[in-house]
Amino acid sequence: MGEYKMKKEQIILAIETSCDETAVAIVKNGREVIANVVSSQIDSHKRFGGVVPEIASRHHVEQITVVIDEAMKESGLTWDSIDAIAVTEGPGLVGALLIGIHAAKALAFVKDKPLIGVHHIAGHIYANRLENEFNFPLLALIVSGGHTELIIMKEHGQFDVIGSTRDDAAGEAFDKVARMLELPYPGGPQIDRLAKETEPTIDFPRAWLEEGSYDFSFSGLKSSVINYIHNTTQRGEEINPANIAASFQASVIDVLVEKTYQAAQEYQVKDVIVAGGVAANNGLRAALENRFEHEKQTLNIPPIALCTDNAAMIAAAGSVLYEHDIFSSMNLNAHPSLPLSSI
Ligand code: KG4
Ligand code: ZN
Repeated sequence: MGEYKMKKEQIILAIETSCDETAVAIVKNGREVIANVVSSQIDSHKRFGGVVPEIASRHHVEQITVVIDEAMKESGLTWDSIDAIAVTEGPGLVGALLIGIHAAKALAFVKDKPLIGVHHIAGHIYANRLENEFNFPLLALIVSGGHTELIIMKEHGQFDVIGSTRDDAAGEAFDKVARMLELPYPGGPQIDRLAKETEPTIDFPRAWLEEGSYDFSFSGLKSSVINYIHNTTQRGEEINPANIAASFQASVIDVLVEKTYQAAQEYQVKDVIVAGGVAANNGLRAALENRFEHEKQTLNIPPIALCTDNAAMIAAAGSVLYEHDIFSSMNLNAHPSLPLSSI
C-alpha cells in the first residue's frame, strides 16, 4: 500500500444491502480495512433462478444487526472510535436498500454520528482504492449485474460517464445466458468456470456500435445465443454448453477490452481500474492484463472478494464525502435508480 494522507483522520462504518448481500465494514482513512463482513443469501435465491426482492429484504432484516455486531467485534473498536456511518442509498432493490438505510439512520441517531449516503457504483469504483491509490486521470470500467459503464475521473468524487449500456448490463447477459444453459444462479461464475474447459469456436456477434462510441449493447448477443441453442436443438443435435459459454464470454470480453483500451488511449489516463461483479471473471481479467501489459497505463483489478458486493467499498467511497463534509440528513431515502453524480 503506497503513501497516503487524509485531510481528516477517520474511521467509517458502512452498510451495504442493495441486493443479495448483507454487508458491514469498518474502514480507516478510506483505504485500510479494519473489518469486512459479508453475509450472502445466494443459496436462498438459487431455487428461484434469481434474486427475489421480498426474500432479499427479509434476509437483510434477519441479518443486519448480526452483521453489524460481527463487524464491530472483528474490529475490536468501541463506538467512540467510529466517526461516521455510511450506507448505500441506491441504485438497487428498494426494499433491500431501505433495510440498510434504516439501520444506518438508527445507528447515526443513537450513537450520534454523521450519516453519509453513498452511490453503489461509486462504491464499486472505490473498492480499487482499498488496494491501490488512484492516479488521475483515471478510467474505470464498471461491469456489474445492473451496470456496464466507462467512466473518466479527473479527481476524487468526479465521475464523467463516457459510455454505458444501451440495453442489458454485462452481468445481466451472463446471468441470462447461464439460465438458457440451465446453470444455477448466479450465472456469471458458472459461465466463467465452463468457459475454461474449451476454446471458443462459435462466432457470436460483437456489438461495436458506431465508430468512436463507448456505449455497449449485449441484447443482440443474447438473442444470437438463444437462436443458436434453438436451431441446434431443432436439428436434433446436442448443444455443447462449454463451447457456448466460452464463445459467449469471448464476445463480451472482446468488446469490453477493446473499448476500454480505446478510451484509455483517447483520454490519456494514468490508471485503468475495473469494478463490479463481472470484474471477478477470470477470462476478462486475463484479457485486460494481456491488452495493457505493454502500455503506459497501470491496470488495477481488485481481488475477487472486493469485486462483488461488499461494504468496505461503500466506506471507501463514503470517506471522500466525509473529507468534503458532505453528509446526509435523517430524511435519507432509498433511490432504486439513483444516477451517479459528481460531488
Ligand atoms: O456487482 P455485483 O456483485 O452486484 C451488482 O451490483 O449487480 O455483480 C453481480 C453480477 C452478476 O450478474 C454475476 O453473475 C456477475 O456479477 N459475476 C460474474 C462473475 N462473478 C460474478 N460474471 C462473470 N464472471 C464471474 N466470475
Ligand atoms: Zn454491485
